[in-house]
Amino acid sequence: PSILKEKANFGIGAAIKTAHLAELAYANTVKSHFSQVTAEWEMKMELIWSSATGYNWSNADRVVDFAKDNDLEVHGHTLVWYKSFPGWFKNAGYDSTAFEDRVRAYIQTTVGRYKGRVKSWDVANEIFNDNGTLRSTDCPVFATFNDPIGFYGRCFKYAHEADPDAKLFYNDYSVVLASAKRSAIKRMVSRFKNEGIPIHGIGDQFHYRVTTDKNTIKNGLTDMASTGLLIHLSELDIIVNVQQSESYAFTQAEAQKQADMYRFIVESYESLPADQKFAITTWGVTDKYTWLTDYWHAKEYPLLFDQHYQEKEAYRGFLAGLKNN
Ligand code: G3I
Repeated sequence: PSILKEKANFGIGAAIKTAHLAELAYANTVKSHFSQVTAEWEMKMELIWSSATGYNWSNADRVVDFAKDNDLEVHGHTLVWYKSFPGWFKNAGYDSTAFEDRVRAYIQTTVGRYKGRVKSWDVANEIFNDNGTLRSTDCPVFATFNDPIGFYGRCFKYAHEADPDAKLFYNDYSVVLASAKRSAIKRMVSRFKNEGIPIHGIGDQFHYRVTTDKNTIKNGLTDMASTGLLIHLSELDIIVNVQQSESYAFTQAEAQKQADMYRFIVESYESLPADQKFAITTWGVTDKYTWLTDYWHAKEYPLLFDQHYQEKEAYRGFLAGLKNN
């Protein structure tokens, strides 16, 4: 059968969890079908940064070693995300100078450790609300900063200094759906360009559903590409049980609807300029372990492989969307 990564001229990624790597079918599916991995959890601050001067590398090393052993690239996720600030860090207070000093040390230490082994990083994740304003209630520190965007720009600089070859991304959800958020991102990108801040790409997580409007997706992607940056569909999964109904059945017809949406998204991505294509990463490997089961509180079937690691219609839809399929 055709293998996605052999047909794509950009990265075919999957978010992995080290907890599942001992399951042979899981590890083999990752090795056979994907060209890069993102740690679903293990490379976040909460797991690495144990104290102001302490780091726990075991989980992140497991991901990077697995990738190296299997010729897979690693996309680092994510350096600065308010949801994964460790407790001790949040309790250390939000004096912006001390806060930034700590974040700089964290970025330099983490990016430095994986220099040459992690090809790209989500430097900042989810800093804007859908209406384009900066998040502040979720993370009081940014309310005390007089120029939060300036702080984030310096985070990109710290990462670039630690590994000048790494591609640096800003990552968020609903970028193609929320035009105000997308405008705020575009404003930040042009400011960074004017100030010589090293930003190379934008990620839209692409947690969408079979009912997501196709024109909105297409137009939003074109608008993102107008920045001239690399575009990463960084956490792609397609919800089918949109009513979160207990009695939902993933019938052949439902599977075909999902396959059509995967195909549409891949075709839209393929229509971007060749030098702006980076990767399409699915947020997980198999329906068996999708994060949506907990989050969506309903049975979901959002990925390319079913719970028995069989290629779904969605896999064939993804493949059909590739230019040289
Ligand atoms: O595995 C441990 C378990 O040993 C421990 O007992 C338990 C106690 O809390 O935690 C378990 O770890 C969980 C981890 O996933 C691994 O399964 C964490 O609680 C849980 O918070 C973590 O959730 C992840 C979440 O980000 C927060 O980091 C999800 O797997 C992951 O899918 C989700 O991914 C995010 C992206 O990073 C950003 N975009 C949205 C996306 C979905 O929320």
